[in-house]
Amino acid sequence: MANITCKNHGPLRIEGDFKLSDMDGNTFDVAGRTAISLCRCGASQDKPFCDGSHKQSGFQSEVKARTLPPPAPKPPTPQV
Ligand code: FES
Repeated sequence: MANITCKNHGPLRIEGDFKLSDMDGNTFDVAGRTAISLCRCGASQDKPFCDGSHKQSGFQSEVKARTLPPPAPKPPTPQV
């Protein structure tokens, strides 16, 4: 199981058993890494990975864990 930590003013840190894929379903070869950081500031030159650019960009985002509201109900699917 992966643990994801929202780093204040920085990336999402993924640790544990994870798989990272692109939109085509291709899996990134992370060369045996058991932890990676994903950019959430938008400034990385190596997206989706964090390259430390958040420090120079002045990205500010302090995150505290919270409870989300229940998901919105999905519209009914048409019967064929
Ligand atoms: S969070 Fe580190 S470069 Fe974007």
